[in-house]
Amino acid sequence: MSAFLFVTPSWDGHSWAKALRHVAPHMDVRVWPDCGREEDVHYVAAWLPPANALKRFPNLKAIFSLGAGVDAILSDPTLPSGIPIVRVNDADLTGRMSEYIVLHVLMHHRQMRRLADNQSKRVWENFDQRPASAMTVGIMGLGVLGTDAARKLLMMGFKVVGWSRSAKALHGVRCFDGASQLDAFLNETDILISLLPATPETDGIINRELISKLSCRGPLGAPVIINAGRGRQHVEADILHSLDTGRLHAASLDVFASEPLSTASPLWAHPKVVITPHNAADSDPAVICSYVAGQIARFERGEELVNLVDLKRGY
Ligand code: NAP
Ligand code: GLV
Repeated sequence: MSAFLFVTPSWDGHSWAKALRHVAPHMDVRVWPDCGREEDVHYVAAWLPPANALKRFPNLKAIFSLGAGVDAILSDPTLPSGIPIVRVNDADLTGRMSEYIVLHVLMHHRQMRRLADNQSKRVWENFDQRPASAMTVGIMGLGVLGTDAARKLLMMGFKVVGWSRSAKALHGVRCFDGASQLDAFLNETDILISLLPATPETDGIINRELISKLSCRGPLGAPVIINAGRGRQHVEADILHSLDTGRLHAASLDVFASEPLSTASPLWAHPKVVITPHNAADSDPAVICSYVAGQIARFERGEELVNLVDLKRGY
C-alpha cells in the first residue's frame, strides 16, 4: 500500500485530494488529520503543516511543498531527515507572480493611487508622466520568479537590475550578487522588489538601513518597495517610519510576518500602502497536482525528483 497525504490545515485539503485523484485515479489519497495507517504514507504534500506532523510517517519517500516557498516546512524542528523535499517550479505560478509584479510596478510608476484620489475629488490634474525607461526596478532574488519578472519588466521598457546570492548573467539585467554588492544594487534601484525566500539571512533584510540606501533619483523622487517574497523580510515599523518621513514613496505588501495581517495594523489604513492577502501567486490545485503526480510517476520509474530544496541553503 502506498498512500499520498495532504497536510494543508489552512486550505481545503479535500479539494486538493479531488484534484489529485483526477490526474492520478490509482492513488490512495488521504487528507490530514485522517492519515489512516501511518506506515502506508509514502508521499506528503504540505502547506503550513503543523509542527511535528511530518515525523509520524516511517516510510516517507518525498515531501512536496504546495508552493514555491518551503520556509514553513523547514521550520519544523522534527522534520524527518534524509527525505527529499520538492518545491513548486511551474509556469502557471510563475506567470501569476509576474502579473502581480508588472501590475504593481506599473501602478506605482503611473501613479494610479494619485489618479484614483484625484478622481474621487473630481480633480483634473495632468501631472508629468515619465516613460518606463526612466525607472530602474531592482529585483532581490533572481531565481525562477525573479528571472521571469525581470524579463517581463524589460519587455515593458523598464531598466532592471537584480541581486542574488550567487553570480548571474541575465540578458538586459545588470546583476549584482552577495552581501558585498548589495549597496551598489540598492543605489541603482528606484522600485525594489523582493522575491527572496525566507531564510535566516533574509529575515529583516528590508529595514530602515536598507531603505536609506535606495535611490531617490527616480521619477517619483523616493523609492517604492514591493514585497512578494515573505513577510519576515520587511520590518513593518521601518516601512511605516520611512513612508512617514518621505524616505519611501509607497509600498505594496503581499506578505506579512504574521498572516492574516492583524486588523489593528496601521498598514491597512496607510495612504501610501497597498495590501494584498498573500495572493500574488496562488497555487492552483489542478496545475500543482498534475506537477506532483508527474514527479511521482517519474520517481517510481526510477528517475530523479526535480526542483529539490537544498537544505543547507534553506530554499
Ligand atoms: P528560487 O528560484 O529559489 O530563487 C530564490 C532567489 O533568491 C535566488 O536567486 C537566490 O540566489 C536568491 N537568494 C536566496 N537567498 C539569498 C541571499 N541571502 N542573498 C541574496 N540572494 C538570495 O525561488 P523562487 O521560486 O523564485 O521563489 C522565491 C520566493 O518567492 C519563495 O521562496 C517564496 O517565499 C516567494 N513566493 C511568494 C508567493 C506569493 O504569493 N507571495 C508565491 C510564490 C513564491 P541564488 O540564485 O544565488 O541561489
Ligand atoms: C507562496 O507563497 C509560495 O511560496 O508559493
